Amino acid sequence: MFKASSLVPLLALGAVAQTTDYTQYVNIFTGTQGGGNDFPGVARPFGMVKLGADLLVSGTDSYSGYLPNGNFSGFSMMHEQGTGGAPKYGTVAQLPLVGNISNPLSNITVGRAVTDQGSVGYYRAQTSQNVVVELAAATRAGMYQYTFPASSTGNNVLIDISHVLPSFRGQGLGQGYSGGHFTIKDDGHYEASGIYNNGWNRSPDWTIYSCGYFNVTPSAARVYTNTVTGTVAGGSKLQSSGSATSSSWATAVGGLYTFNTSVVSSRVGISWISNAQACQNLENEIPAGTTFSSVVEGTKTTWNNQILSKITTTSTNTSNLELLYTSLYFMNLLPTNQTGENPGWTSTEPYYSDIFTFWDLFRCSTALLQVLDPVVYEEHIRSLIDIYRHDGWMPDARSSNYNGRVQGGSNADNVLADAYVKGVRGQVNWEDGYAAMVKDAEIQPPNTIPPDPMAPEASTAQGRGALPDWLAYGFITPAFTRAASRAVEYAYNDFGLYQVAKGLGKGDDEAKYLNRSRNWRNHWNPDLESIGYSGFIVPRNLTSFIATDPLTDSGYWGDPYYEASSWDYSWGDIHDMAKLIEWMGGADTFYNRLETMFTVGANPNSPTSIIFDSTNEPTFNVPYLYNFVNRQDRSVYQSRKVAKGDYNIGVSGLPGNSDAGAMQTWLLWNMIGLYPVTGQSTFLIHSPWYESMTIDLSNGKNLQITSTGGDGNGDTDYYVQSLNVNGQQWTKNWLTWDDVFANGGTMEFVLGPNPVQWATGPVPPSPATEPITCVCSHLVLYQLRTTLTFNRIATTVFET
Ligand SMILES: *[C@@H]1O[C@H](CO)[C@@H](O)[C@H](O)[C@H]1NC(C)=O
Ligand SMILES: *[C@@H]1O[C@H](CO)[C@@H](O)[C@H](O)[C@H]1NC(C)=O
Ligand SMILES: *[C@@H]1O[C@H](CO)[C@@H](O)[C@H](O)[C@H]1NC(C)=O
Ligand SMILES: *[C@@H]1O[C@H](CO)[C@@H](O)[C@H](O)[C@H]1NC(C)=O
Ligand SMILES: *[C@@H]1O[C@H](CO)[C@@H](O)[C@H](O)[C@H]1NC(C)=O
Ligand SMILES: *[C@@H]1O[C@H](CO)[C@@H](O)[C@H](O)[C@H]1NC(C)=O
Ligand SMILES: *[C@@H]1O[C@H](CO)[C@@H](O)[C@H](O)[C@H]1NC(C)=O
Ligand SMILES: *[C@@H]1O[C@H](CO)[C@@H](O)[C@H](O)[C@H]1NC(C)=O
Repeated sequence: MFKASSLVPLLALGAVAQTTDYTQYVNIFTGTQGGGNDFPGVARPFGMVKLGADLLVSGTDSYSGYLPNGNFSGFSMMHEQGTGGAPKYGTVAQLPLVGNISNPLSNITVGRAVTDQGSVGYYRAQTSQNVVVELAAATRAGMYQYTFPASSTGNNVLIDISHVLPSFRGQGLGQGYSGGHFTIKDDGHYEASGIYNNGWNRSPDWTIYSCGYFNVTPSAARVYTNTVTGTVAGGSKLQSSGSATSSSWATAVGGLYTFNTSVVSSRVGISWISNAQACQNLENEIPAGTTFSSVVEGTKTTWNNQILSKITTTSTNTSNLELLYTSLYFMNLLPTNQTGENPGWTSTEPYYSDIFTFWDLFRCSTALLQVLDPVVYEEHIRSLIDIYRHDGWMPDARSSNYNGRVQGGSNADNVLADAYVKGVRGQVNWEDGYAAMVKDAEIQPPNTIPPDPMAPEASTAQGRGALPDWLAYGFITPAFTRAASRAVEYAYNDFGLYQVAKGLGKGDDEAKYLNRSRNWRNHWNPDLESIGYSGFIVPRNLTSFIATDPLTDSGYWGDPYYEASSWDYSWGDIHDMAKLIEWMGGADTFYNRLETMFTVGANPNSPTSIIFDSTNEPTFNVPYLYNFVNRQDRSVYQSRKVAKGDYNIGVSGLPGNSDAGAMQTWLLWNMIGLYPVTGQSTFLIHSPWYESMTIDLSNGKNLQITSTGGDGNGDTDYYVQSLNVNGQQWTKNWLTWDDVFANGGTMEFVLGPNPVQWATGPVPPSPATEPITCVCSHLVLYQLRTTLTFNRIATTVFET
């Protein structure tokens, strides 16, 4: 039974009749194992509630709550998607238990009877006590349905406010519980709050409120601290109430509801503001009487209409359709739309949290979000600026309303620059946006108290910790951790400032930040050699370069390079590629060096490994850089090899942590046949997978990408033979936002089994590289840059 009115909010987005149920192609268990850490529970796009199972295996961190093995510690409403580092959330949980529970707040777990199952909007688990748990979610409220064994008496639902996802990594990143309250109200519903801290982003205390109802009257409902403090006698009508508060682990609080009905459902709302708001969120989304199945259907409808139907293809290949729609699904769980749910300040601007993290997301994800969800994207941009207005800084890894933690540069700058150059205006206040970027570029954030033990010298909460060196010297000395990799990112950030300064007419700033965007060059040691190549990004001090082994110098928070090597980071500043090509020794050497990334082992102990690292984001660009030396065919070959070899729809189908969908967006761009160059309006062209793909640009316009001559799956015959863009023959291996996105467009590829030199136009721009001063024609210059590569491709085509 449900109130007719309750369906309205669920179906409002479904005004346009949906003929295809794309959720059939989403496998929610893809990428949940093997380090992908995808979240397989129930959620709506960007929803605050991500309701899923929390599994406990001592010694193993469960980043999204889920593990394929272990015992259930709860079914909680808050999770991240695909993160690594250390778990966050796992808060606001229930756990069904059969029998007499003598000590409810003793970290009880219960085994798993069968493999969990689920689909978009629906999750089913069964405990070793044969209780079936089914989950459904709206955006700020969720629903549990329990089916206890028919024979059982004493059917309990435990609510332990101290429940969080633990961490076993021993890096001081385990979440803490520092108090809470639990109250059973006169009508039998409960209201609770819990205070938590730490986790990967080292957040200080934060509070979440919840409001829960059961659909049947319990035979007993008790409130607990560590020992029972109040007992509420059950009955057909529950009259009395109880409550408990605590301020530490020693006095964890919670409640135990006992039923003698075998099917029990619970509706729970959450809020960052108050219990009243949690109850309001529940009433708004899942009012009393709402059926479980209508919540499930509402979630499927929302995914179909808001997200999944944005990309359609004529492909009928199920494994490719699953890869497409599953990737679309996992890229749209984060960030979380918390508009109106911001405990920090009151504002009419939108508010998005759970950015996890821009370090991962700025290359592929934010650019795809703009294409597929322009409304969310603009709200997200406005929210970044509002966070700066009220918290003083834009975030890099904001969750639980705390900006930390910054791994590299202030990469919100890259995101804003990308939005600016691609024409995002709307309600964005760009003067404030630019002011936020300038603060990142000019003001060192005060160190956190206490300092981050992994990088104690400067703030990791926000901004650019190593800014004093960057400003004083144009490089970063070992006085700061991650000096070399941060220099690569700070240069990119400054390029973002240049782009926005130029657009807004900020006078001298334009030249200043363009100049600063070249400062990666100050870390370039032209004489450092590694496996036959010379010239690498290196650590340096005031007087000299510091020795490093570019193959093996990848490190962590305290090291010169963060999570990637000098071989990797040396490609990082895509805004200054022409200079990099020159410094690497010209187009031929650049080409050979790229090839080496994919052929030579980085690790002598693992001969099959290559230097290129598909498991992490710093090298996302690398397979596409061939376009800069006019070897687009190799971009197609190498990127396709990674996409087809390292991604699939299996439970271990991601090469590394999804990182809030970053991995999935890399793959989606590969299917589309374009690659975004963040901070510029440029898209590198490679090759599409399908015979026809249509992207709904949400403005009444489409981008339609077709191909003939390929195999329709992107497995073979994928080399571009020719391309028409908007009906005209296209001879560049790149295009811009305005060409096909701003007003829609068409791209018609002819593909084939062998590479041909179809792209005869200029290579992609290198806007930070000084123009070559030479009294020769454009054509001659162009040929100077590409003659050698032309010769090679000619050999490929005509001699084989
Ligand atoms: C699950 O719980 C059972 C019973 O308490 C215990 O024997 C088992 O070791 C637990 N399994 C894991 C993976 O923790
Ligand atoms: C459960 O507790 C009740 C009351 O304390 C008791 O009568 C009953 O025997 C207990 N049942 C079990 C299985 O321990
Ligand atoms: C539950 O686990 C937490 C985290 O490991 C621990 O701090 C707490 O003491 C445990 N509580 C009980 C009652 O064992
Ligand atoms: C639970 O069952 C007992 C008898 O087994 C009955 O007296 C009681 O009314 C029931 N309570 C509810 C809430 O149905
Ligand atoms: C974000 O949430 C707010 C508050 O619920 C809502 O008004 C807004 O439409 C949401 N944004 C999108 C893009 O759905
Ligand atoms: C560019 O930076 C260099 C130092 O890296 C400095 O000497 C020069 O004045 C700067 N030029 C401009 C236009 O800011
Ligand atoms: C700079 O690094 C070089 C090479 O490691 C070292 O010899 C020199 O002492 C360092 N200078 C300073 C000022 O730290
Ligand atoms: C479907 O696509 C996969 C992956 O591209 C491919 O291996 C498979 O052969 C295709 N199946 C058919 C029937 O074309």
